[in-house]
Amino acid sequence: MTAQLIDRFQRTIEYVRLSVTDRCDLRCRYCLPEGYRDFQEPDTWLSFDEIERVVRAFTELGVARIRLTGGEPLTRRDLPTLAARLARLPGLDDLSLSTNAVQLKKYAADLHRAGVRRLNVSLDSLHADRFAAITGGGHLNKVLDGLMAAKAVGFSPIKLNMVVMRDVNDDEIEDMVRFSLEHGFTLRLIETMPLGETGRAATEQFVDLQKIRQRLAETFDLVPAVMPGGGPARYVQVAGTDLKIGFITPLSQHFCETCNRVRLAADGTLYLCLGQNDKVELRPLLRQGISNAELKRQIHAAIALKPERHEFKEQPRKIIRFMSSTGG
Ligand code: 5AD
Ligand code: SF4
Repeated sequence: MTAQLIDRFQRTIEYVRLSVTDRCDLRCRYCLPEGYRDFQEPDTWLSFDEIERVVRAFTELGVARIRLTGGEPLTRRDLPTLAARLARLPGLDDLSLSTNAVQLKKYAADLHRAGVRRLNVSLDSLHADRFAAITGGGHLNKVLDGLMAAKAVGFSPIKLNMVVMRDVNDDEIEDMVRFSLEHGFTLRLIETMPLGETGRAATEQFVDLQKIRQRLAETFDLVPAVMPGGGPARYVQVAGTDLKIGFITPLSQHFCETCNRVRLAADGTLYLCLGQNDKVELRPLLRQGISNAELKRQIHAAIALKPERHEFKEQPRKIIRFMSSTGG
């Protein structure tokens, strides 16, 4: 019998989002403050050996899917080496990566060779000036080069994540649909969440995606669709094409009852919910030399703390940490 992690609300946890660093080479306005430098020191990060040990324990508890995330995961040195080590673990059958793609051109082939197959890329605008304004000075052409390299190497699916903001990029959604159609990408539209002071400020430009869905239906023939491993996004497909569009609606329609994930921060803190503060710090335990059996017991105990739901609407001031520190 395979072990399983089941929480108090009968949700099976089979997915871990693994933040390998809280650093990032961009400063997206809804995520990190301009000029932000107050990152964790690298000696607080779990080493590759420690990460592999924790992930192995999770796979022995029934977790089959891992996503590498950040901050920006490609800023962690030798990420493809870590990816290859994790991909080899028995029981792990889905290794994916979330990236801003700034450095993806350089790493795409190595990551694919290491066993990463699915890719999520943040892309909020196709206009270079807007992209720079949203990301605190990022270069759109680097991201586009990274995307094309990833496509050429054979990543599939490649999903574009677009945080939709009123008067910032909400006039570009149709263009983003056409761009995704042209390149065979999946498009996911995301509602801004009040994470940290930055996220909270950005919710002033909040856009209800239910309305965007109605708007897109005026231009495109949309039919309901499913996406394997699609997580919280609700998908539609553009009829007669392969294009799927996902709507991630944590505020207008929350999806906590089907949540299947936990998040391991770079410093080894296991967060049970993106929108709550419940956590268990694994790093001190690892460095005290706990046994594998004890590690698994601690993970089990942590899962019992997983809260029922986030309270982004009821308590928008609750989460002071940024998305980059928990792993988006
Ligand atoms: N609300 C919604 N999405 C966010 N991201 C970062 N901060 C926020 C926020 N406050 C998203 C990024 C990226 C992913 C890692 O997290 O756009 O796609
Ligand atoms: Fe970096 Fe992602 Fe945050 Fe943008 S959203 S600043 S790319 S961690």
